[in-house]
Amino acid sequence: MKFQNKTILITGASTGIGKAVGEKLLDESCNIILTSRRDEKIEEWVSESENSKANMLILKNDVTDKESVAEVYSKVVEKFGGIDIAILNSGIGKEITPKTFNSKVAEDIINTNFLGVVYWVEQLLPDMMKRKSGIIAPVSSLADNRGYSGSGFYCASKSALSIFAEGLSIDLKKHGIKVLTIKPGFVKTPMTDQNKFKMPFLISAEKSAEYIITGIKKEKAIIQFPFPTVLGSKILGLLPNWFYRLVG
Ligand SMILES: NC(=O)c1ccc[n+]([C@@H]2O[C@H](COP(=O)([O-])OP(=O)(O)OC[C@H]3O[C@@H](n4cnc5c(N)ncnc54)[C@H](OP(=O)(O)O)[C@@H]3O)[C@@H](O)[C@H]2O)c1
Repeated sequence: MKFQNKTILITGASTGIGKAVGEKLLDESCNIILTSRRDEKIEEWVSESENSKANMLILKNDVTDKESVAEVYSKVVEKFGGIDIAILNSGIGKEITPKTFNSKVAEDIINTNFLGVVYWVEQLLPDMMKRKSGIIAPVSSLADNRGYSGSGFYCASKSALSIFAEGLSIDLKKHGIKVLTIKPGFVKTPMTDQNKFKMPFLISAEKSAEYIITGIKKEKAIIQFPFPTVLGSKILGLLPNWFYRLVG
């Protein structure tokens, strides 16, 4: 897959991984749509970037608001005709303990990390199916395979997202649309800056963007990185449940 002349959407492009992927795509001759709630933050980093080859459209979008997603999509269609590659990256995380347990946090996390992707897929599908092409790349996590302490809502949202993406990839095969699930390990971003626990094999957002762009260009079904964290999560996933609960 070459990015030249393609129209690429990145949701959650104001900070972190989305911003880093956006910065790298400025070097490509393509159309980029950058969205998030804080569109002023996107404007800020884009204005600081030099020599962009890409055509850009920056739009305010709250992925938990189905109507906002539909409105933003129609603006994109008006300007570029459609989307070839959708990197559905918007996401939130919050540590939760039995003492701070609060269902509102679960609602926010599920609405953003899972339903936010579903709302975008709903907009993308009709046109991609008509054209029999397109790439949908949701950003899940290597934390999708187990319930990690303090991160139950987050893990549940990413597990739901990965499973949804897997099912969707099978359904869309015959329509010529690819679903590539992105599963990062720990990446240094404003989200992980809040974490108080140790994050093994933490990588920079720029490095994560390299993995993501290479993976999409190779059309890898699962884009997971970095290797030591992939291996660690596979081992944790294979542990018998009784043993995981004992040591977790
Ligand atoms: N960092 C890691 O270690 C790591 C590991 C695995 C997976 N991930 C996933 O990678 C993605 C990016 O995370 P990050 O680490 O780069 O965190 P981040 O720097 O906090 O970025 C999150 C992005 O999501 C956007 N966002 C949040 N809520 C939104 C909403 N309701 N509507 C639209 N956009 C929204 C934020 O923009 P606004 O606030 O401006 O809307 C921001 O641009 C997330 O899906 C995260 O779960 C991260």
